[in-house]
Amino acid sequence: MKSDFSFSIMCGSMLTHSVECEAYRSPAPRAMTRCECAGVSFQEIAARMEADRASLDEVCRRTQCGNTCTACLPDLARFVAARQK
Ligand code: FES
Repeated sequence: MKSDFSFSIMCGSMLTHSVECEAYRSPAPRAMTRCECAGVSFQEIAARMEADRASLDEVCRRTQCGNTCTACLPDLARFVAARQK
């Protein structure tokens, strides 16, 4: 997304500095790749699911992935769904 804007800065000396910005870009959201609370990567979750023929819920229960703050759960669900395609 590209948008133009400008803003002015008033300094103590009453000088005004005008700053022209060509583009303002908010950082793209980054997907999580691991459960930080449990210290386990999504790769490891997927590997355990395959090796143990276990469901995501079962592996999460065993590893404690997603059981604390739950911030990782949306990205974990996307990660697992992408691997099953
Ligand atoms: S990051 Fe997974 S439960 Fe907090």
